[in-house]
Amino acid sequence: MTRPFSPFKTIIEPFKIKAVEPIRMTTPEERKGILSQARYNMFNIHANDVLIDLLTDSGTAAMSSEQWAAMMRGDNAYAGSNSYYRFEAAVKDLTGYKHVIPTHQGRAAERILFSILGGTGKVIPNNTHFDTTRANVEVSGAKAIDLVIPEGKELRNRHPFKGNMDLLRLEEILKDAGSGQIPLCLMTITNNSGGGQPVSMQNIRETSAICKRYGVLFFLDACRFAENAYFIKLREAGFENSSPKEIAQEMFRLSDGCTMSAKKDGLVNIGGFLGMNDEDLAQQARNLLILTEGFPTYGGLAGRDLEAIAQGLNEVLDEQYLKYRIRSVEYLAEHLSAIGYPMIEPPGGHAVYIDARGLLPHIPPDQFPGQALCSAFYEFGGIRSVEVGNAMFGYCQDGKEIPSTMDLVRLAIPRRAYTQSHIDYVIEVAEQVYQFRDTLRGFRVIQQAPVLRHFTMEFERISD
Ligand code: F0G
Repeated sequence: MTRPFSPFKTIIEPFKIKAVEPIRMTTPEERKGILSQARYNMFNIHANDVLIDLLTDSGTAAMSSEQWAAMMRGDNAYAGSNSYYRFEAAVKDLTGYKHVIPTHQGRAAERILFSILGGTGKVIPNNTHFDTTRANVEVSGAKAIDLVIPEGKELRNRHPFKGNMDLLRLEEILKDAGSGQIPLCLMTITNNSGGGQPVSMQNIRETSAICKRYGVLFFLDACRFAENAYFIKLREAGFENSSPKEIAQEMFRLSDGCTMSAKKDGLVNIGGFLGMNDEDLAQQARNLLILTEGFPTYGGLAGRDLEAIAQGLNEVLDEQYLKYRIRSVEYLAEHLSAIGYPMIEPPGGHAVYIDARGLLPHIPPDQFPGQALCSAFYEFGGIRSVEVGNAMFGYCQDGKEIPSTMDLVRLAIPRRAYTQSHIDYVIEVAEQVYQFRDTLRGFRVIQQAPVLRHFTMEFERISD
């Protein structure tokens, strides 16, 4: 007898837990004091005082038993370590690049790349530069420009590939540029600053072709490459039957190199790399690497870190993992949306971005509505989120706030670290905060640094 059977709807975490880390419970009363001591800056709160930490998905992944086992095999030879060769083989298998240069994290790869290719008068396009990428481009003296498609800037536009590059604008800029003025074009997959939105294979292919035509190198900022590959499988015609690995390999094949923070889709707590095909560029990069990061077979990492990356790059492309990963972010977004939270739609691969300015219209941008929502999530639920708004992108000129264009709050989901009941708790907290959103108040800055102010800013609450 055949029994009726329909596939189960619940997408379970495709792993079981072997090591646990306790979460310290705190009360709203305690957290009120902690917040005020931290001067309402989420970066000042001790992790021990946080129940659910959604500050970032970077370096916060839980490693697998295979990664811990690989770490025991770590070979810490200064030169020519076995671990380097295993790491190099894993990266080459995935990317096909001729040269693989380990770095301690993504921004170290960026600094090396732009020290060579940047400089005064140069222009570096990207769909949207992440803040460390922009900072490293600008420190070199070059100009960083963002060319994401217009749909990518519309919060509620449900375009399937909101991270795509605006190809017409890219071509215009390349046509007008002086010889050598644009040495390199980047593409961030997924586009973190634009809401973790993916880029289609077609857009990667066309960007690559345009760059080739103008003799410009085309690099990926690849830290969330596996999430991008899975979105292509889900959303782009012709890739339904390809594996995430085949899709990722094709993305890398279309590029001349990448910067990579392995703290995201490398499933590790530290590490990154720079990959490329150009021999000359690789030689220059290695020379700089030796100066500040270390010898080219370890680049600022221990042998065990290289082992963990090699294994992580393999695990992250597992289809069951990616299905669970993308679904768990979508699950959070669906529930928050049902409560009434306005947000970037559709949700990205690693995070939900709430539109705090839309949620709290009674708090003007110069009183930091994103900050008000972050503080409420922490005070009432012990949830740490991050403001991506006026504190991060606005600035102060002659004592006056020049606000950013949006005030978002990012809930970034660490990989494999939390279960569905943790996410259900976040939803419950968000539901309560939503009920009394009209009572939330804005903030006034009491101290700030001239650059990257959000990390160290201090606030006080504006009372009625
Ligand atoms: N590029 C992108 C797109 C990133 O999201 C990050 C880091 C980096 C480069 C830099 O990598 O931290 O290893 O030096 N993003 C983290 C975040 C910090 O919270 O989104 P790193």
